[in-house]
Amino acid sequence: MPHVLNAWYVAAWSHEVTRDPVARTICQQPVVLYRAKDGSAVALADRCAHRGYPLSAGRLVEDSIECGYHGFAFGCDGVCTRVPAQSTIPSRSKVRAYPLHEKDGWVWIWTGEAERADVTTIPDTHWMNDPAWATVTHSYLFNCRADLVHDNLLDLTHESFIHRTTVGDDYIYEHGITVEVDGTTVTVDRLMPGVEAPPLYASTMGVEGLFDRFHATEFAVPSHHTLHSGITGRGRPREEGYLIKVLNGITPIDEHTCWYYYAFCRNFGIENSAATEDLRIGLSTVLDEDAEALRLQELALQTRPKGEHDVLIAQDAGVAKARRVMSQLLAAESVAAAGPASGTSEARYAASPAAAAAAAPPAASATASVG
Ligand code: FES
Ligand SMILES: [Fe+2]
Repeated sequence: MPHVLNAWYVAAWSHEVTRDPVARTICQQPVVLYRAKDGSAVALADRCAHRGYPLSAGRLVEDSIECGYHGFAFGCDGVCTRVPAQSTIPSRSKVRAYPLHEKDGWVWIWTGEAERADVTTIPDTHWMNDPAWATVTHSYLFNCRADLVHDNLLDLTHESFIHRTTVGDDYIYEHGITVEVDGTTVTVDRLMPGVEAPPLYASTMGVEGLFDRFHATEFAVPSHHTLHSGITGRGRPREEGYLIKVLNGITPIDEHTCWYYYAFCRNFGIENSAATEDLRIGLSTVLDEDAEALRLQELALQTRPKGEHDVLIAQDAGVAKARRVMSQLLAAESVAAAGPASGTSEARYAASPAAAAAAAPPAASATASVG
């Protein structure tokens, strides 16, 4: 089960990257993260060039990380700066350095071709840092493949069942969706006119009665979902309402586990610290419910016979479109990997004309209404 590598993934919270090296596996690539003395975050392959010992088990010496086995030291660019046992440094003594970008509390890593890393393509997460919004955060290791989290976020009818006692009610599956594809972003929008506020948020909103409720999952394939949610007066614009932005950074670890970085930002009751604490607890229950459901689903899928496939329904229109975009991105990378220059690790992303064509985002925007 490959991963799309020419992409930004959340590698860690900013506060997790310190002068103590930390190990993370991202898309099956072991990485060590640390902070240089000037405060900039560094990510290197977590495997010493000498004999493969994990660099994360070593220590920092100034801006270099010193391997804990025989003391080779590697700078922020991954180039070996010292071999204690001799004065010459073998030219092959270097480890991969990954492009990183820090924004709004998250450290993003680019796992593909370094020259294609464009920080302007990192999703908007400014709500985490905006004083007009209050934020609750969580991070989880999910015992399921990342694809199951994507499906989960694109089909929120599960809230009516998995989250029946927290954020779910019957309004969700009773209303249909509109799906839009724009390049590699898939948006699933659901409007629920004239209904009550979600049970978990109604008290913080301090409202009673009927509203137009909405949620739109915007999936920037392959790694990030922004859930635009809230309630507004009946027939009124969404921007006027009580708004929630849920930021979901989904980072594959391997074929059966992933990291889930989560930020829940609201524009109401932002001074209400008791409400923030209640939400922190309530949302952690919601995430526990998802984590357990997806763990069970992952186990069930591992024993599913070949030839038995999902039965998708109208509410899965966003799931289906996102899977297609993901497949196109994966196919583009595998075409590149199989290109004429294959045979070296660099050739994994060799740009052949066919690869470039396959790598182009799905051309036209498409809209489909189902429900
Ligand atoms: S394995 Fe790192 S210095 Fe020997
Ligand atoms: Fe959920």
